[in-house]
Amino acid sequence: MVFLKLGTRKALVVSSPAAVEECLTKTNDIIFANRPYTLASKNLNYDSKTIGSASYGDHWRRLRRLTTLELFSTNRLAMLESVREKEIQFLVKQLFEECSNDGQTQKSKVEVRPKFVGVAFNMMLRMISGKRYYGNDIDEDGKEFQTLMREFTAIQGGNINDFIPILKLIDFQGIEKKMVKLMKRLDGFFQKLIDEHRRNGSVNSDEVKMKKNMKLNLIDVMLELQEKEPEFYTDETVKGVILAMLIAGSETSATTMEWAVSLLLNNPQKMKKLQHEIQTHAGHDQLLNESNAAKIKYLQNVITETLRIYPVVPLLVPHESSTDCKVCGYDIPKGTMLFVNLWTLQRDPNLWADPMKFIPERFEGDVGGGGGSEVGYNMISFGVGRRACPGAGLAKRVMGHALGALIQCFEWQKVEDGEVDMTEGTGLVLPKAQPLVAFCKPRQEFINILSKESYSH
Ligand code: HEM
Repeated sequence: MVFLKLGTRKALVVSSPAAVEECLTKTNDIIFANRPYTLASKNLNYDSKTIGSASYGDHWRRLRRLTTLELFSTNRLAMLESVREKEIQFLVKQLFEECSNDGQTQKSKVEVRPKFVGVAFNMMLRMISGKRYYGNDIDEDGKEFQTLMREFTAIQGGNINDFIPILKLIDFQGIEKKMVKLMKRLDGFFQKLIDEHRRNGSVNSDEVKMKKNMKLNLIDVMLELQEKEPEFYTDETVKGVILAMLIAGSETSATTMEWAVSLLLNNPQKMKKLQHEIQTHAGHDQLLNESNAAKIKYLQNVITETLRIYPVVPLLVPHESSTDCKVCGYDIPKGTMLFVNLWTLQRDPNLWADPMKFIPERFEGDVGGGGGSEVGYNMISFGVGRRACPGAGLAKRVMGHALGALIQCFEWQKVEDGEVDMTEGTGLVLPKAQPLVAFCKPRQEFINILSKESYSH
């Protein structure tokens, strides 16, 4: 545990399983369930009203309940499975086309990151609004959305003005002004989306019914709830949910998949084993589907091991204490920001054997210090306790499916001799400093399947 004064703010950094347990699940779980109020929560999160930025209380609880029921429940996940599967089919088809020339297939050099970012955003977008804004044939709205997301990601990270009040007062580097300007555009974009759904709903009720039988998306659900409880489901609440889901659910999964492919390229034996496992479970006469991917233990272990070494939310989202409390015997004052250092915890040689080695097998038995798949507080890539990630189940399914399908259908190779550069960049989501570029080539036995027209838009 380290206690810091960051400018005028108090901060506690914990990186031991015992301290994590005490802060987030046992004695202090409610005390640390708040979020700090920052320039980003004020200006980019509807004045701390979004699910990820709101402090513990009734408003946050209702948002959690809404998303648990309407997006993350087993029922909703199953209902929208085919929507997500379609996106994976588009992805493999797009890669296949990039490897095709005059009816011949060849290996092609692929920038992996934009592919994963596209598929992750499209999946979330389809489930939320029915739209897709990434791909070869996007319109002006798609281009605007991509720009907004890029700008949002760049500006949302830690900000020195939050720690030194005089800087906040003079709006050092004009950060707040930039946030307000960006949020105005983003809010306008989401409002247009909601209005469009509202118009479609009121203009043609048959169409709505049809939509219900097909795939009711989250905006439609929230607009229905708005009719029953307008004081809670305001347009601002709806926009806040859209924003939170897109931001929390897309870059995280895309970045993890990029780390996973990089690790597999640096560990060809593991890549081979994974390919073999996928083939054993899914064969080669059909594309792996989401439910099958979820059953391939080794594939899930590859993702878990990737998240252990490269936790995409390396300090969790900051928590804050609502009253004075004690952590591991030390007095911690009210209003202390809590950072849980997963990056250290999950690489701790006292907890993990060969912590920097990529060993998915460590989750099969009792290899990894933490031991077995129940690794307790030695590993909490999705957080733990009240504020733990509500999208963990969805994320694991989606990442397993995307990664599984790519390895099932294509051979992957490094573009240069030596290891893929694993240097870490900076950012709220732990990025790979050098975007991954790799060769991919369709596997012979999948060429017929990948040629299928039904995989096109
Ligand atoms: C690799 C994928 C992902 C990882 C590693 C991840 C990890 C995390 C972590 C560490 C937190 C913070 C926990 C805390 O503060 O204690 C979080 C919060 C959150 N995540 Fe995820 N996440 C992922 C994907 C997703 C997806 C796909 C969604 C939704 C579609 C999602 C929605 C959220 C939300 C809404 C929160 C805020 C929860 C709250 O403050 O109450 N995440 N996630």
